[in-house]
Amino acid sequence: MSDPAMDEITMGDPRPKIKRIGVLTSGGDAPGMNAAIRATVRIALYNGLKVSGIRRGYQGLIEADIDNMELADVGDIINRGGTKLLTARSEEFMTEAGQKRALDVLRMFEIDGLVVIGGDGSYKGAKRLWEMGFPTIGIPGTIDNDLAYTDLTLGFDTAVSTVVSAINNLRDTSSSHGRVSIVEVMGRHCGDIALFAGLAGGVEDILIPERKFDLDDVARKILQGRRRGKLHSIVLVAEGVGKSYEIAERLEALIHQEVRVTVLGYLQRGGTPSVTDRILGAQFGQRAVELLLENKFGRVVGIRDNKIIDQDLEEALNEPKRFDQAKYDLAELLSL
Ligand code: F6P
Repeated sequence: MSDPAMDEITMGDPRPKIKRIGVLTSGGDAPGMNAAIRATVRIALYNGLKVSGIRRGYQGLIEADIDNMELADVGDIINRGGTKLLTARSEEFMTEAGQKRALDVLRMFEIDGLVVIGGDGSYKGAKRLWEMGFPTIGIPGTIDNDLAYTDLTLGFDTAVSTVVSAINNLRDTSSSHGRVSIVEVMGRHCGDIALFAGLAGGVEDILIPERKFDLDDVARKILQGRRRGKLHSIVLVAEGVGKSYEIAERLEALIHQEVRVTVLGYLQRGGTPSVTDRILGAQFGQRAVELLLENKFGRVVGIRDNKIIDQDLEEALNEPKRFDQAKYDLAELLSL
């Protein structure tokens, strides 16, 4: 290892207790997860640890869908969306029997530390294992950016770019036809994708779960724009706000103009990861392994004010997500 920080850890610390780590991805996949897997595996191997790759998240853990991982197993994945380790949402792991089975499998494979890459559901699973005494570390991987303790989660940056590129395309056709477009993006409880993509895409309105909206106001704004000669309007709607097709019908009745709906859906979750997501994945993976080597467990890694941080897992899960009012106001101001 050429990184002096890593040298310090491997040379200066007492012999790490962890000898073999497991790594899994769970919940919705996110671009950048592969970069995090790659970094986790390689940093662990460089430090003399053995690595077990667990496929299909907690479900694969219960079913012992596990393989040894070497340096070459994470070659040629940094540029790929999705997750090399595959993912799942496991009902079985929600049960006590499933959790007990997962713990048994971890012991059977002589895994003594687990890196979980995923969103809040995955973190709850990691918390459960930690409560049962098993060392876990979380890496935030979800396009939703709904984990409060970190400024960014893996996949968010790429997803926002995907949405902005879709908005660019829709502008063309909406202008040609003089239409209003409603674009539905992901985000059941957190409107960050809509907020960031809306600000970057210069849309007319952003409807998000964190803020009540008045469709009359949306209509008024669109009509004002039309009077000023605007050829089209785009309204971004986060999926948690309600049914986009119903919103479109109600809006059409108010503005007497065609409103078309585009649901971006799962295409937001795929695609080659952005530079930001690749670098974050690398840094998160590195810090996760460092924590295991330092015998610091039940923690999650993240980024705050441009610094890689780690925090207690339970504390992180309990932190309420702060809404970025300043960005919301700015988007509103600029869209007039
Ligand atoms: O990955 C997060 C997320 O994309 C949410 O925004 C979305 O509602 C959900 O996952 C849907 O995922 P699935 O249909 O795979 O459960």
